[in-house]
Amino acid sequence: MSPSISWQENQTQHTALWHSENGAKPPKNILVVDDSLTADEALKLAHEGTGLLWQGDYHNARQLLQAMTRRLNKKALKKKEKNSAHKNIRDIFNLYRLSQAQRAKLLSMVLVRIDPGFELALRRAPNIQQACEQVYAHTTTFVISLRELLGVIGAFEWRKNGVPIAETGGSIYPFYGVFSPVRGEYLKLVKEAPLPVPCKTAFDIGTGTGVLSIILAKRGVQHIIATDMQERAIECARFNIGQSGCQTQITLEHCAFFPEGKADLIVCNPPWLPAKASSSLEQAVYDPDSAMLKGFLQGLCGHLNENGQGWLIISDLAEHLGLRTRKELLDWISEANLRVLERYDIKPQHAKTADTTDPLHVARMAEITSLWCLVKGG
Ligand SMILES: C[S@@+](CC[C@H](N)C(=O)[O-])C[C@H]1O[C@@H](n2cnc3c(N)ncnc32)[C@H](O)[C@@H]1O
Repeated sequence: MSPSISWQENQTQHTALWHSENGAKPPKNILVVDDSLTADEALKLAHEGTGLLWQGDYHNARQLLQAMTRRLNKKALKKKEKNSAHKNIRDIFNLYRLSQAQRAKLLSMVLVRIDPGFELALRRAPNIQQACEQVYAHTTTFVISLRELLGVIGAFEWRKNGVPIAETGGSIYPFYGVFSPVRGEYLKLVKEAPLPVPCKTAFDIGTGTGVLSIILAKRGVQHIIATDMQERAIECARFNIGQSGCQTQITLEHCAFFPEGKADLIVCNPPWLPAKASSSLEQAVYDPDSAMLKGFLQGLCGHLNENGQGWLIISDLAEHLGLRTRKELLDWISEANLRVLERYDIKPQHAKTADTTDPLHVARMAEITSLWCLVKGG
């Protein structure tokens, strides 16, 4: 059952459902606020754990959030200068994640009430009905953070417009909460690496939007089974596969890791950083204890046909952050009775690599994304 949230307004007690996609608990105290609230006051109240239920103008609420973000960024930059002098990169990463989590918590204190029919009763509010229908099932009033709502609206736009992907010859439409291939250098590797011979069947483990299955189908692989643990990813992949016209070649299974049977090619792009995901939305980026990476490697041999290949797509960012060593990765590969046939590398080109204010800049600049071509026989 969803938790509820209560507040006083015009001397009347109000109650509504609380919803947080991150699984955050509702704030204990709620204050009804409007356009007269300054960013400094908002941050002070947020620090004290007070939820700020916005009743003013929608655009002013967005500006308030931006002003709060600027203040927090300034503080973070000062901290970065202090920290980078003393700490190693792994500590800097841990501090960075901690400050990201604290910042998300503070910014999530600005709340909005969503009425039945996904109505946002604020001055100059946009129509959020379609965006909300794609994420929420509530039929009664509920309260969420404005930050979450902005994410839902942003995702709706991505899903509507799609992301053009040269490697599929079309667009991919990411759904809310599904890993989006916007930083798509790794797609080029999957498009260009030589396929094993024969290559009639493939598995795509953790398919997300379905993008890798679509690339393989367009390369002529006739029977592909794509799996994902997330129901949303399966729905999203179904939509994209339908759009691509490859639905006769690709079957979807909502399960962890491998489907039954064996294949000539098995691809997997696990989350690249071995760290705890602090919300379900982070599960595509963080792989706690390298569980997906290790699970993929351990199961691979048993699911490969004779002469089959496993394609592991992973960047070495974790190595540059001191979160995993190259030796560990190579040991896991040989412990799984696999050997490296070939490795194809590419340098990421996304904007973050050029952002010198990013605390992880040094590691990001050195990052290489690789397609590890693995075969049976350690
Ligand atoms: C980094 S995303 C990759 C998505 C897509 N293959 C791509 O390359 O764009 C990892 C995906 O694996 C899924 N996932 C995580 N653990 C999994 C598991 N044990 N079995 C199947 N899917 C898993 C996540 O839900 C997510 O969609």
